[in-house]
Formats: sequence, structure tokens, C-alpha cells
Amino acid sequence: MSPSGNGFDVLPDQTLLESGLSGGVALPFGCANGSCGDCQARVLEGTVKTLRHHDFALTEAQKLNGFCLLCSTTATSDVQIEVLEATSVGDIPNQQLRAKLCRVEQIDNIIIVAFKFVRGKALRFLPGQSVRLTLPDGDAADLPIASCPCNAQFVEFHVLANDTLNLTPAKFAEKLLTVAATRERVNIDGPIGRFTLSTANQKPQLFIANGQDFNQLQGMIEQVLNTDLGTPCCLVWRASEYITQYRSNLCRSWHDAIDEFDYVPVASTADVLNALPEAWLSRLDECEVYLGTQDLALIEQLQSRGVETTSIFYPRQLTATEVL
Ligand code: FES
Repeated sequence: MSPSGNGFDVLPDQTLLESGLSGGVALPFGCANGSCGDCQARVLEGTVKTLRHHDFALTEAQKLNGFCLLCSTTATSDVQIEVLEATSVGDIPNQQLRAKLCRVEQIDNIIIVAFKFVRGKALRFLPGQSVRLTLPDGDAADLPIASCPCNAQFVEFHVLANDTLNLTPAKFAEKLLTVAATRERVNIDGPIGRFTLSTANQKPQLFIANGQDFNQLQGMIEQVLNTDLGTPCCLVWRASEYITQYRSNLCRSWHDAIDEFDYVPVASTADVLNALPEAWLSRLDECEVYLGTQDLALIEQLQSRGVETTSIFYPRQLTATEVL
């Protein structure tokens, strides 16, 4: 792709947009169903064909200049396209979408819910970002998107079933289950937050989760694994007092399927860094480290072991301008 030089594989039954998002490329789009024109890109080399119907009409001049719609076009040869990718959260506009609940599952004290956007719409966001979820009765919570942008028609959230920490409004989880039963629509506004993957380099990536804050990291890890760059990646997940490694099966499946991915579950009382395999301890100073929450003691520990401050990332409190 021009100008970034990024690339991705295109499956014959997938559009360029679907394939690009699956490959971890933050392509531009709006409706994802051929009606807005936001996904326009120019084909510089190679051939493409229309795979899905689109209502948006490219002008004759645009067609002559090689423009296509990424959400309705697929490649029929190796292609080079010119398109502006999002490289930072500032490149992504605020979106307001309606969604319906399509999956709910409880594991220990965590309710995992997935919403599908209505009318084939999709949310543009970077992994690690959050959205505001507003229930039919007006109660709203800012929740990290636990899924990855590779399937942007869905978003997944992990919510405490018994929220003793008051992270969400009273009875929020209970109301979510009511939405599941009544099939009412919810509003999703965002994305918000600046916590996302660094695009600066291809250092080994160490993710450190504590209890529920795995929900901040799951989408980022999926994105890293989807991009298939061969960069070593490790997740250390410490249980907290009330929350187990509720997605251990998923993490183990990543570990089994991907050579470069290590998964290290640790007990709530364990020291996270001491639990690291020697191969990771010995190269901590080369790593980028992503924390599910800001943990000052752990940040100090990392710094004392040679991790540069600029290589430690964690979600920060939203500023006034970021709050919706
Ligand atoms: S994303 Fe709207 S036309 Fe492609």
C-alpha cells in the first residue's frame, strides 16, 4: 500500500476492506456497506473487481483515475493501492451507532457480551480504545472494546457481574442481561481514549494484565497476532482477588497455535516479573510493555530492569476533551 508500505493478504471471497482489517491495517471506512464513499482508494497497480453491490456512485473521472470502494471490491491479482490509513487515534472520527446484543456468556464473575451494529454498519477504532455504551434506560458506561478492529461489525465487552468496585452504574450488568432478553438496541459512541499499539517499531511486545483489565489488552493482542509480523509477544496475566484468568482457554489456544506467542498465567499473590520466562526477563530492556491499568509500582520495577519509560504504555484518565 502507498504511502505506508504496509501489506495484507486478500482472500477471494473477502473485500479489500475486510482483508485489510483482518490483517491489522487501519483502513478508512464509514458505513462498510457501500453507501458512504469514505473507503475510497486508488488502485496504482494490478486489477480489482466488484464483489458486493454499492449504492455510492464513483464519478467517471474517479473511475478513470483508478478509484474503487474498499468495502465492495476485491483483488484479482497482486495490487498496490493508495489510501490514507489511520496511524493515530486523532485520525479516527467520533461515530454514533446503534447495536443489538448478539452473544452473552458469563465466566466466573465476568459477563462477556458482544454487540453487532445494525444495518451492516461497523465501528472504526484502534485496538485498546473504549466506547460509551448507553442502555435503553439512559444508563451509560465507558467500556474498553475487548475485541479487535479486524471484525469491526462487532464489539465485545467484559463487564463485572458483581461490580463491588462501582466501575459501572448500579445494576449495569443486570440491565445488560435484560437487554439480552428483550433484544432492545443500545447506543455506542466513540471511540475514546488514546491507549493503543505503538506504530513506532517492531520490538518484542510484553502485555501484562491484572484481573479484569485483560479487557484492555485482548484486542491489542489479537491485532498483533493478526498482523503476522513474526514479532515475539508474551501475555502475563495475574489473577486478582475476585477475578480469575477468565479467558485462559483463548490465551492457551493462541499459545498453541502461534510460535511467537507466550502465555503466562500467574496467581494473584505472585510477582509478575519474577514469573516471566528467562527468555523474556533477559530482554526486558528491548521490549515494549503494555499494562492493562496504570500500576506505578510495576512501572518502577520495569524501569529498574531497563525498560525505557517511552516503551511503557497504559490507559490514562480521559482528558476533558476526550470525554464524550
Ligand atoms: S465504507 Fe461506506 S462506501 Fe465503503
